[in-house]
Amino acid sequence: MRVSINDIKEMKAKGEKIPMLTAYDYTSAKLVDAAGVPIILVGDSLGMVVLGYENTIPVTIEEMLHHTRAVVRGAQHALIVGDMPFMTYQASTEDAMRNAGRFLKEAGCQAVKLEGGETMAHTVEHLVRVGIPVQGHIGMTPQSANQFGGHKLQGRRADVAVQIIKDAIALEEAGVFSIVLELVPAPLAKIVTERVKVPVIGIGAGPHCDGQVQIFHDLLGTYTDFVPRHAKQYATLATTIKDAITTYSQEIKNGTFPTMKHSFTMDESVLAEVVASAP
Ligand code: KIV
Repeated sequence: MRVSINDIKEMKAKGEKIPMLTAYDYTSAKLVDAAGVPIILVGDSLGMVVLGYENTIPVTIEEMLHHTRAVVRGAQHALIVGDMPFMTYQASTEDAMRNAGRFLKEAGCQAVKLEGGETMAHTVEHLVRVGIPVQGHIGMTPQSANQFGGHKLQGRRADVAVQIIKDAIALEEAGVFSIVLELVPAPLAKIVTERVKVPVIGIGAGPHCDGQVQIFHDLLGTYTDFVPRHAKQYATLATTIKDAITTYSQEIKNGTFPTMKHSFTMDESVLAEVVASAP
């Protein structure tokens, strides 16, 4: 059975830590699902790690829906959250409803994530009221990186820290089933996690959160442009992949691949007929 938003909320109530990981295609989703990760986020980070954009701003809803559909085909058990890209929910509640609805109807995921705290609470309330589960995202929200002057830690200043706590409370009151808290000091993340009943899933927010989320490519070491300080590489697959491709290329050049093991035979009499009648 697929994990539900209630299962995720219960994990916090039981003091069970919540792993969450991004995936962007069928194959990666299948692997994450098989590993038993209960939440898969189809993050708009795919703009950087899959599509090669500089940041998440250019990502379109069509790109997100395309990748979310693939993840839905690959993962049978995890709760799948589709990340609403920049300017698909900020301009109006109607935009937010229409676009969030597309994630559930056209891509088949079970929830959406959107960035923003107090300012987005009204929108979240509307989405939840019509039956769309929402995950909030506060702290350093990448779609506002231009406003922050880059992907910078948020909440070292008292006023900013207090605002982040208020954002979490506003989202909880609006009905989110969980909150992603990104790039804030660990002691602030601890306060936020204790202050709300819904699970707080950290990234670059220290060990006190109810769960953690990481980017698939960071965890496996396949994205080499930049490795964030908060990422832990559990493998360095970029080297493994590059070595395998180099060997493949060399084997073609020196005739080691393919062998007859990778080829198909033909009936001798048919072959003789082809040779005799070939132009
Ligand atoms: O897009 C994404 O992958 C995210 C994570 C950083 C939480 O929003």
